Amino acid sequence: MSGKKKKKAKILVASGVNLDLLWKREVAIYGRMTLKDIEDILTLKFADLADLTFFQTNVEAEFLLKLDQGWDGAVLNPGAWTHTSVALRDRVAGLSLPCVEVHLSNTAARESFRQISYLAPVAIGSITGFGAWSYVLGVEGVLSYLERPVK
Ligand code: DQA
Repeated sequence: MSGKKKKKAKILVASGVNLDLLWKREVAIYGRMTLKDIEDILTLKFADLADLTFFQTNVEAEFLLKLDQGWDGAVLNPGAWTHTSVALRDRVAGLSLPCVEVHLSNTAARESFRQISYLAPVAIGSITGFGAWSYVLGVEGVLSYLERPVK
């Protein structure tokens, strides 16, 4: 083995509108973990595998601009923008940003307006319903995609 260290993938983990309210918001649906708790789990789990950057905003334009900062991939939980933002869909497609869409809740089992995702068709895939673990699976998904043998 060469002593050369593999460069870690730069992955954005971005959470959108109202995800700052985790732990006090609709706890029956979203649980009691804070976003910081989730980020701490990811930091511990992926310390050796990925260079993770965490970001949360309630301002859609900030979320869109963050996507364009040289990431190898992204894990995106856009919150309600998932179901409303053509701009998000277009930006991910325009940047060719490999991303996994994640949701804490199982959006497919909720109100009909949550069953539409503008992001899903331009994402690598979507992970929903696993609570904080959706984010873990999301990072694993991006890493597997980036390491796939055929590009
Ligand atoms: C969510 C699901 C969305 O429908 C909702 O608007 C959210 C949270 C989730 O993580 O389950 O804000 O993205």
